[in-house]
Amino acid sequence: VRKFLLIANKAATAPFKLNDLAGSAGRMDIVCRCVSSSLFLSHGIRKDTEFHVVLLGPPNPPKHISFYGSSVRRMGPDERNIASFISKTLSGKKFPGVELRDEGVLETIEAIEYDEGFLLEMGGKDLREIEFLPNRDYLFVLGDHLGIPEEILKYLKTNEFGEISVGPLKYFSSHCIVMVHNEMDRRFCS
Ligand SMILES: C[S@@+](CC[C@H](N)C(=O)[O-])C[C@H]1O[C@@H](n2cnc3c(N)ncnc32)[C@H](O)[C@@H]1O
Repeated sequence: VRKFLLIANKAATAPFKLNDLAGSAGRMDIVCRCVSSSLFLSHGIRKDTEFHVVLLGPPNPPKHISFYGSSVRRMGPDERNIASFISKTLSGKKFPGVELRDEGVLETIEAIEYDEGFLLEMGGKDLREIEFLPNRDYLFVLGDHLGIPEEILKYLKTNEFGEISVGPLKYFSSHCIVMVHNEMDRRFCS
């Protein structure tokens, strides 16, 4: 199973306005694009993928929301639809394949089960040179527009998270997810 964890430094932790995702919702547009890139294919859903986000913005941080490709239902790949699931989840509504917990980044990493963890960082080892094995659970941690907070970076580096680079430039978080999927699809889905 492929598992992605996004650290959303300013994203809202209470219901928010769907028409101001990039503003008052604290760059919730990035979170929604990452959900879409993680879980959706053209006319399909990646059942072998989980997406986790820790929302750290006001008013009630932290909030950890998990999306399980194997069980989400009636969610569309567009930002507004995903944002509406997130906002309603923050208001206490339950949906299949979506779970809300009051966990911070470190608690979330400790709660997720995985065989090997990676940190997506410019300057890391080239993704194309990493050995991935079938039937193992991989966790990929990445930041939003503000990157990964220093203390979390330290924790990841001292806990054997290998640093992976997906290319020579600085990309959007959602694009990094697409590149990881693409590399693994080429190896395991042909
Ligand atoms: C828009 S970038 C972060 C920009 C932020 N201002 C910074 O300097 O960290 C969002 C995230 O994508 C990932 N990322 C961006 N470019 C990358 C690359 N070339 N290789 C691996 N990860 C990358 C990192 O996890 C980063 O935190």
